[in-house]
This record gives sequence, structure tokens and C-alpha cells, in this order.
Amino acid sequence: MTAQLIDGNALARTIRGEVAGRTEALKARGVQPQLAILLVGEDPASQVYVKHKVADSEQTGLKATLERHPATLSEADLLARIRALNADPSVHGILVQLPLPRHLDAHKVIETISPAKDVDGFHVASAGALMVGQPGFWPCTPYGCLKMLDSIGYDLRGKEAVVIGRSNIVGKPMAMMLLGRNATVTVCHSATADLKSHTLRADVVVAAVGKRNVLTADMVKPGAVVIDVGMNRDEAGKLCGDVDFERVREVAGWITPVPGGVGPMTRAMLLVNTLEAAERAAG
Ligand code: GUN
Repeated sequence: MTAQLIDGNALARTIRGEVAGRTEALKARGVQPQLAILLVGEDPASQVYVKHKVADSEQTGLKATLERHPATLSEADLLARIRALNADPSVHGILVQLPLPRHLDAHKVIETISPAKDVDGFHVASAGALMVGQPGFWPCTPYGCLKMLDSIGYDLRGKEAVVIGRSNIVGKPMAMMLLGRNATVTVCHSATADLKSHTLRADVVVAAVGKRNVLTADMVKPGAVVIDVGMNRDEAGKLCGDVDFERVREVAGWITPVPGGVGPMTRAMLLVNTLEAAERAAG
């Protein structure tokens, strides 16, 4: 059996189309959704990411402003800038690109963003809201993974789901979202004794470790859905995920490719969250 691909590019395109339509409707009511992106320092990968975020926003009719600050920016100045954006009613979403220079406390910075504008979903209030099932912003990457499962009409109720990785921005919120859909969820991590014993039972596996070949074909139950959050490079410098794609696709029922899987969905969900923030603010 060869797995069916879940095409993140195609799904993200559909979602961007929906965002564009809802943005038009909001604009007709006199509201221009706006995302403020703050970049501190010169991290090369971050520069590329924020450029994409601005381009995606503009393509869907959202306004995005990119503020570049020098790596020497003081924490007090950054927090003051965030507070000013919190108070600005024309700004609906605030995103501080990570990683931050070492002298800045990322935790403190994120907690300064108003939860109503936390479109990354990284604030403790956002994490708490997800945990207890209250409205709030969900982190874009696991949210995108959930949308990919929805796109194939997958009913998670009563299914065994295994999440590999326990980060605050992917693994933990992913587990909560799957639990919210009534899956039986196991979270595996670097101290898990026998990863394969867990993954072999899984109807759904989400691999979010950031290491090549974390999930190989012998670890996958035939027909399982495999979602690959990883973004790595192989020896040849080619982009690859956490899953041994070519072999796992012979066992799995569904699989997401890298590139063209979760990545474009993460970007699309940031637009959804920003639009949602503007819609909530507009009432
Ligand atoms: N750096 C890498 N990915 C992200 C993200 O999703 N949000 C923010 N703020 N920074 C990042």
C-alpha cells in the first residue's frame, strides 16, 4: 500500500482563500485586520520567516507591519513597544519573532503581549484556554496539523494518537487538541523507554522532534495517519522531516510531505488567527 498524501500547499491555498473572503467582509464594515511583526536582531532564518509572513498577509488582504529593531534593543524598550501595540486598536495581532537575542527574556516578552492579540498562541493565557477548552488562540503549527486531519475527514474519536515531542509550541498543544477531539493521546519524548511500542499502536502519529528518521517504517501501524512537523536537512542539504518518508509512505494510510506539508499550514493558520483577532475585536 502506498499512503495518500495530505497536500499542505493545496490546503493552505484553500484556507488563504477563505481568509481573503472574510477579510473583504470585515473591510466592508470598515475594519482593516492588521498584524504587527517585531523582529529583533539579524537572525538569517528569522529574516526569511518574517518576510513570508508579511507576503502571506498582504496576499490575503491583511495589513502587516514589520518593525525591525537592532539586536541591542533593551528589554524595557521592547516591552514598552509591545504595550503600545496592545493599546493600539488598529492592531489586532502582535507577533514577536523568536528566537530573541540572549539578553531578552522570551517568556517575559510573550507574557507582555495582550492575550487578545496573541496570534502565535504562545501566552500562558492562550495555553490555559486551550487546556480548559475556552476560546483563545491556538499555536499555528498544531492547529495546522489538526486542520490537515480534518481535511481528510478523519474522526479522531476513540483513536490512538501518539505525539512525539513535548515542546510548548507543538507537542503539548497538539496533545490537547487531539484530546479535545476525543482521541486517546500518548505524548512521547526523549526519555520515553520504548518509542516503537507506542507508535506501533497509533492510528495517528504526529512527529515533532526536529531530528531525521525519528519515525521509521517498522514503527508504523499499517494504514496509520502520519503527520510530519520536522524541518531538517539531510546529508545532501535537502529539506526533510522527522519521518523516513519514502519507506513510511509504503506502510501508512496517509502522510504529509516535507516540504509542502505542515510548513505552509503553519503560515496559513497565522492568517486565520489574525483575522479571528480582528473579527473578535470588531464584535
Ligand atoms: N520562530 C520560528 N517559528 C516561529 C513562530 O511560529 N512564531 C514566532 N513568533 N517565532 C518563530
